[in-house]
Amino acid sequence: MIESLTLLLPDAAATYQLGHLLGRSLPAGTILLLQGNLGSGKTTLVQGLGESLGIAEAIVSPTFTLISEYSEGRIPLYHLDLYRLDPTEVEVLHVESYWDGLEFPLGIVAIEWAERLPELPLEYLRIELAPTEQGSRTAHLNAISPAGKFQNGFSLGLLQPALQPFLARSQNG
Ligand SMILES: Nc1ncnc2c1ncn2[C@@H]1O[C@H](COP(=O)(O)OP(=O)(O)OP(=O)(O)O)[C@@H](O)[C@H]1O
Ligand SMILES: [Mg+2]
Repeated sequence: MIESLTLLLPDAAATYQLGHLLGRSLPAGTILLLQGNLGSGKTTLVQGLGESLGIAEAIVSPTFTLISEYSEGRIPLYHLDLYRLDPTEVEVLHVESYWDGLEFPLGIVAIEWAERLPELPLEYLRIELAPTEQGSRTAHLNAISPAGKFQNGFSLGLLQPALQPFLARSQNG
């Protein structure tokens, strides 16, 4: 089952706010696949998410370190940036250890440049950010899960009321 929503993010503060809202709402074990070109707002979203989890440390894109782990918040945040890698290089990182619950406590896994993953996880929330002609951004959210509901209880429908201020007009009724 696929659930999807399109949001309008007029400025960087809105992207940050969307991240904030996700940090408040997402249960442990949620994987966020962040897609969109250079400078589309992926890190901005993760910064908002980190703040609402209660992470005081400044979040910067782990473009060179590849993975940052934050454990001081409500639940852990694992922030990955795969920009510099190709899928065969990603394969040897075994990123699934951030969501299989064996090596690391479950948290939120936020993956920038998720296009580089050699294989998709079973369940994930994909957020595709794209610039508009006006310099703002659109965000396409897709919740993908085989059972129609994530094992951790997450569904896009649960988030929808909170997302109302950002909903693109056609979905706003
Ligand atoms: N909704 C928005 N409208 C306008 N500008 C935005 C919006 N969201 C973020 N930005 C701005 O876009 C710029 C790039 O943001 P950010 O670094 O988060 O992008 P990124 O997708 O992580 O880039 P990279 O691919 O290099 O990692 C920043 O200046 C940020 O403030
Ligand atoms: Mg970034």
